Amino acid sequence: MISDQINVLLIEDEEFDVRRVENTIKPFKERIKIIDVVSDGLSAVELLRVKKNLIDIVIMDFQIAGGLRGAHLIKKIKECDSALQIIVITKMTINITDYDFAHNLLEAGAFWYCTKYPGDIEDYIYQPTDFVISIFNAYERKKLIKEKQKSSQKIDKNVEDILSNKKIIGVSPAMKDLSQQIIKCSKSNAPILITGSSGTGKELVAYNIHYKRERKYENFILPDQLIESELFGYEKGAFTGAEKSKPGLFEMAHHGTIFLDEISELPITAQVKLLRVLQDGELEKIGRTEKIKVDVRVISATNRNLEDEVRNKKFREDLFYRLNVVPIHVPPLKARKEDIHYLADYFMNEFSIDMGKTMPVITEDAMKLLIDYQWHGNVRELKNLVQRLLFYDEKIITAELIQTALGKNPSRSEHYFSIDSLSFDSTDGPKPLKMMEKIFREKYFKYIRLQSDSDADAAKKLGLAPPNYYRMCKELKLK
Ligand SMILES: Nc1ncnc2c1ncn2[C@@H]1O[C@H](COP(=O)(O)OP(=O)(O)OP(=O)(O)O)[C@@H](O)[C@H]1O
Ligand SMILES: [Mg+2]
Repeated sequence: MISDQINVLLIEDEEFDVRRVENTIKPFKERIKIIDVVSDGLSAVELLRVKKNLIDIVIMDFQIAGGLRGAHLIKKIKECDSALQIIVITKMTINITDYDFAHNLLEAGAFWYCTKYPGDIEDYIYQPTDFVISIFNAYERKKLIKEKQKSSQKIDKNVEDILSNKKIIGVSPAMKDLSQQIIKCSKSNAPILITGSSGTGKELVAYNIHYKRERKYENFILPDQLIESELFGYEKGAFTGAEKSKPGLFEMAHHGTIFLDEISELPITAQVKLLRVLQDGELEKIGRTEKIKVDVRVISATNRNLEDEVRNKKFREDLFYRLNVVPIHVPPLKARKEDIHYLADYFMNEFSIDMGKTMPVITEDAMKLLIDYQWHGNVRELKNLVQRLLFYDEKIITAELIQTALGKNPSRSEHYFSIDSLSFDSTDGPKPLKMMEKIFREKYFKYIRLQSDSDADAAKKLGLAPPNYYRMCKELKLK
């Protein structure tokens, strides 16, 4: 049983009709409440601007005094809150077979309309059951619209969160050009091939293309490995061990995007199948003769020279052209030195927040060193270096510290580990075992992290699965 209260705003300038409306809904006065009565359009809109969350339904007379009325007023009400439902009551003077009139009202955004009873019917404005049922229906519609708005807001929020996590930082002309390309690409469906050295941000570009397009609510699929059975799926019994049929990732990406990272590693048989998907939008499952239609945007990436692979017959030429409809190149970091400062600051800030630390200051010399460095590992290397720098727990990041973090200052580095990092200050006497265990673990984790290129690398050295590594780092307040 639905029992929430339905709040109504009544726009009516004749006392007599206000009374007739009130009386018509009287048997349902517990559920339908007239919250306010106003006599002109302007006051109604003003009131709705303030109280729109308190009102569900507007019942409005079509012919009222004042300039703002009719279809114009309906539109203004809808502008306050598109979920508000409007029931129009008009005088009998309106021709009841005037379909254009009815159509215009609905077009403007009205939910329903009825012609008032003649003045000699003093108790009711309209056939009471019809009138009340329309109010209930209007209310259900309002609730549905509100729910829909809420869930799409949630989805929008998720997309926003993803995009803010995947922000592309950079001020260089190359990066500005890249963001223009991303906007252009996100409007089309053409296959994209992203090239660039390792760590330049190819995956990041792919995410941005997907989440900035209209189909951002659809799946963005990033296969772990480019294996035929994973990509295209198989039917039950297609090979020994295929006990159930399995949908391929292309099927899961239907209407969305699939990101084929390191495309040069795609086996030749899978290359043929991919070509078919790109040419005809048809998917061939292993063990199935019938084809499945799919609509998938393909973004691929490589840090190799795919043209060389074509020349060496490792990659099909026809597939190369199909994939490379829109080429995007992400230049190496050393070719866009203007970005280094911004990237370093950005990562420093992000990691400091994550680790609950105050952001350290980078000296001018230190920044110069970062700008002049070769960055063979590109942005990924810079990001890892910044994270490593924060583990040193220094308020000021000097050029020397960077040299140390880069492993270019071994004596200094030993000093860090032996004096500050791995020895235990016991001047205030022995510490309880539990506390020592924690300190020991913390120091050891820090030490291993400093010796590693990435968190994944540190986890491996510690013999931990990455999720457990993160959990322990969190417990030790290192993250
Ligand atoms: N312009 C940028 N702004 C912010 N972060 C970036 C930028 N470019 C790269 N990164 C970050 O650097 C890391 C490496 O980027 P990404 O994984 O996209 O590189 P890639 O080109 O795909 O590398 P690989 O070829 O090794 O797969 C990621 O953590 C990414 O978020
Ligand atoms: Mg990548």
